[in-house]
Amino acid sequence: MTKKTSSPNLSRRDFSKIVMAFLGSIMGAIVGIPIIGYIISPALKTQTVDEWVSLGALDGYPIGTPKLFSFTRTKVNGWERTTNSFGVFVLRKSGGELKVLSNVCTHLSCRVKWSDEDSAYLCPCHDAQFAIDGEVIYGPPPHPMYEYEFKVEEGNILIHLTEG
Ligand code: FES
Repeated sequence: MTKKTSSPNLSRRDFSKIVMAFLGSIMGAIVGIPIIGYIISPALKTQTVDEWVSLGALDGYPIGTPKLFSFTRTKVNGWERTTNSFGVFVLRKSGGELKVLSNVCTHLSCRVKWSDEDSAYLCPCHDAQFAIDGEVIYGPPPHPMYEYEFKVEEGNILIHLTEG
C-alpha cells in the first residue's frame, strides 16, 4: 500500500506563480503610484492669495471724492479655477490722509456704490448707507466697510490682498 503524502515544499509551478505575482505587484506599484499621484495632486493643492496689488498713481485719484478701482484675480484650487472681481474705493483726504475701502457691504456682501448726491456709499440690497470714511450711517451692516492695508511707493498706491 502506497501512502500519498503532500510535500511541504512548493512545486516549481507554484513558486513561479508566487514570484510572478510579487513582481507584478511591484511593477504595478512602480507604474501606478506616480500616475495616481499625478492625478490626485492638483486636488490637494490650495492656492492662497497674498500679494500687493497696484492701484496706479496716487495723483490719479481726486481729493475728497472716493474713486472706484476694479481688478480681478484668478485662484486655482485643485481642478477648480475661480476668477474673483474686487472693487476698492480710494479716498484721498485734503490733509494727505488716505483710505482704501472694499466695496463689499459688511451685511451680506452686496457691492456698494458711491453717491455724490447723498455723500454716502449706498448698498442696493437692503438700503444701507456708509459714510465717506466707511462708517455705518444707516441699515443692517454690523461693521464699517473693510479697509485694506496699503502703502505708497514711488507715487503708486498698493494694497495688500490676502485670501485663504
Ligand atoms: S447687503 Fe448691504 S445692506 Fe444688506
